[in-house]
Amino acid sequence: MCGIIGAVSNSNVLPVLLGGLKRLEYRGYDSSGLAVINEPGKFLRLRAPGKLVELERAVSANGEISGLTGIAHTRWATHGPPTEQNAHPHISGGRIALVCNGIVENHEELRTLLTDEGMEFQSETDTEVIVNLIFLHMDKGSDFMTAVRTCIGSLKGAFALGIVNADEPGRIIGARRGSPLIAGIGEAGVYLASDISAMIAQTRKFIVLENGDIADIRQGKIEITNLDGQLQNRDTRISDLKPQAMEIGDYRHYMEKEIFEQGQAVSDTLEGRITASRVLEACFGTEAERIFDKTENIQILACGTSYHAGLVAKYWLESVGMPCQVEIASEFTSRKHPTPKNCLVVSLSQSGETIDTLTALDYAKHCGYAHSLAICNVPDSSLVRNSELILMTHAGPEIGVASTKAFVTQLVALRLLSIIMARKNSSSDLDEADSIRELRELPANVESTLELEPAIQEIAQQFANKQHALFLARGIHFPIAMEGALKLKEISYVHAEAYAAGELKHGPLALVDQDMPVVSVAPNDAQLDKLKGNIEEVRARGGKLIVFADSETRLSSRENLQVINIASVESSIAPIIFTIPLQLLAYHVALIKGTDIDKPRNLAKSVTVE
Ligand code: G6P
Repeated sequence: MCGIIGAVSNSNVLPVLLGGLKRLEYRGYDSSGLAVINEPGKFLRLRAPGKLVELERAVSANGEISGLTGIAHTRWATHGPPTEQNAHPHISGGRIALVCNGIVENHEELRTLLTDEGMEFQSETDTEVIVNLIFLHMDKGSDFMTAVRTCIGSLKGAFALGIVNADEPGRIIGARRGSPLIAGIGEAGVYLASDISAMIAQTRKFIVLENGDIADIRQGKIEITNLDGQLQNRDTRISDLKPQAMEIGDYRHYMEKEIFEQGQAVSDTLEGRITASRVLEACFGTEAERIFDKTENIQILACGTSYHAGLVAKYWLESVGMPCQVEIASEFTSRKHPTPKNCLVVSLSQSGETIDTLTALDYAKHCGYAHSLAICNVPDSSLVRNSELILMTHAGPEIGVASTKAFVTQLVALRLLSIIMARKNSSSDLDEADSIRELRELPANVESTLELEPAIQEIAQQFANKQHALFLARGIHFPIAMEGALKLKEISYVHAEAYAAGELKHGPLALVDQDMPVVSVAPNDAQLDKLKGNIEEVRARGGKLIVFADSETRLSSRENLQVINIASVESSIAPIIFTIPLQLLAYHVALIKGTDIDKPRNLAKSVTVE
C-alpha cells in the first residue's frame, strides 16, 4: 500500500508528482504529500490529510511550488493516524526528505537509539526513524549514498524508499526490500515510482528494482547497486500500458467501467490461449507440459477476491480428478504442514504485489513444494518474476479498489488450467471441445447478463436502509456468494455474510427476519432442489429473498421471494455469469448510499504490508 513517485526533470516536477499520485491513489488514500527542492539546500513541502484532492487544494492555495527534483507519496496509514504530521515526505534536519511504502519492524528500537542521540521526532510513523537515521549518519560525516546504505543495513522489515537530499538537487535514491519500486527513463527526466502507471504520461521505459537494490537516479544516468555497493545489471523494459486504458470515460466510477469491460476482458484473456478444440498448454510457459504432466495435486494461495477465485477452481479441478487445496495466503504461512509430493503451487493475484501472497509463495518454496504457477494481471510484478509458470490475465488496468474484471478473468484462467488437467486424466469425462465452445460463448453471455442492470438497480433500493445482508448458495456457487458478500461490504459498508445454504439451519437462520435481506444464486445444477428447500426455510420465517436464477430453474417470484432470471448457461461457466449480478447489486447499493465507490474507506488495492 502507499504510492511513491519521484522525479528529476529539466522542468518543474510538480505536475509529474501530482499526476503520478493521482494514478497511485489506488494504493492508499488517507493522506498525501510532496517535497521539491526549490533551490539548493531548500525543500518546499506540502502535506494534507484526506484524499489527493486535499493536497491539490493545498498546492493551489500555496501559489508557486516548483523545483526540478521532488518526491511524493500517497499513504495508507499503518503507524499513526492519517494526519498532516504523519503524512510523507518526512524531513530530517531540513536536509533529507523521504517517502516510504512498507513497515520498519524494528522502529521502536531505532527510535530509542535516535532519541538517545538527541534526535527529535515530529510524527508517530515508523518511517521517520529511517530519515532521521540517514540524517544522523550524514551529520557524522557520511556522504548521502553511504548514509542510505548504512541505514538500510540496520532496518528490519519490507519497504520501498525514495530519498532526496536538499544539497544534491538532481538526484533521488531509491531502495527496495519487499515493496515494489521501479525507475523510469524519459525524454525530459528520470523517475522513481511504485508502478509504471504513475509515470506513463512521461515514459514507457523502465527498470524493475529487485529486492536489495539501491538505485542512484540522476538525469541521464541510473546506477543500481546492492547494499555492498556492487553494481547490479537490470534489464530496461518497455511497458505496453496504454494511458487511455486508465481513463474513466463516460462512466461514473472505475468500478462501473470495469464491470462493463468484463466481456472484453474475458475475450482478451482467452485470445491466443485456445484453438477451436484445445487449450494451448504452452501459454502457461515453455516448461508447462513437463510440469503439468507430473503434477499430482495443486495448492492455491491467494487473498481477498483472488482467494474466492481459488475456491471456485477447487470445484473445477477436483471434478477432473486433480486434488486441490485452497488457502488464504496469510494463513498458509502461519503453521507447519506436510509438503505433498509433486504439488503445483498456484498463486492468484490481480496486482502480483500482495505481500501475503508473495510470502506464502516463498514459504511454499522453502517447504519444498515442487513447482509454481502465477495467475496475475500485472506483468513484471513480483509474483510473476518469482514463479516458474505464468498465465497473465488480460483484464487491463483495474483501478477500482473492489476487484471485478480481475476476478472474472482469473476464473477464465483457472478454467483453462482445469481443462488441461482434465486432459491429463484419462478417467475424466470432460469434453475439451465442448468446454472450449462454452468459453468462446462466455463474452456474449457476460454482455447479456450486464443487461440486467436496470432490474438490479431497482432491487438495490431495498438495501438502502439495511445494515446486514445474507448471501446463500451451494456447491461451486458458494464462493460466488462469498464474493458477492465481499463486494457489498467493501463498497456499501452493509455487513454481508455468505453461507453455504446447507449451513443455514445450523445458525444463521436465527438472524433471518424482514430486516435481513437474503440474496441467493440459483443455477440450474444438481444442487437446485436442495437450494429451493433452503429458500423456503427463509420464506417460512418471514425473510425476504432476492434470487438470481437460471431461467431453466422455473423459480418464480411470489411473496417474500423476488426472482431475477438469468439466461440459461452451461454449468461450467455459470459461476462466472452469476458473479455479474452480484457485482452490479453491490455497485448500485453503494451508489444509493453515496459511498466513495472506487476508494472505499480504510482499504487499498495493493496490499504490500503483512
Ligand atoms: C486487497 C484488495 C482486494 C484484493 C486483495 C488481493 O484487499 O482490496 O480487492 O482482492 O487485496 O489482491 P491481489 O492483487 O493479490 O489480487
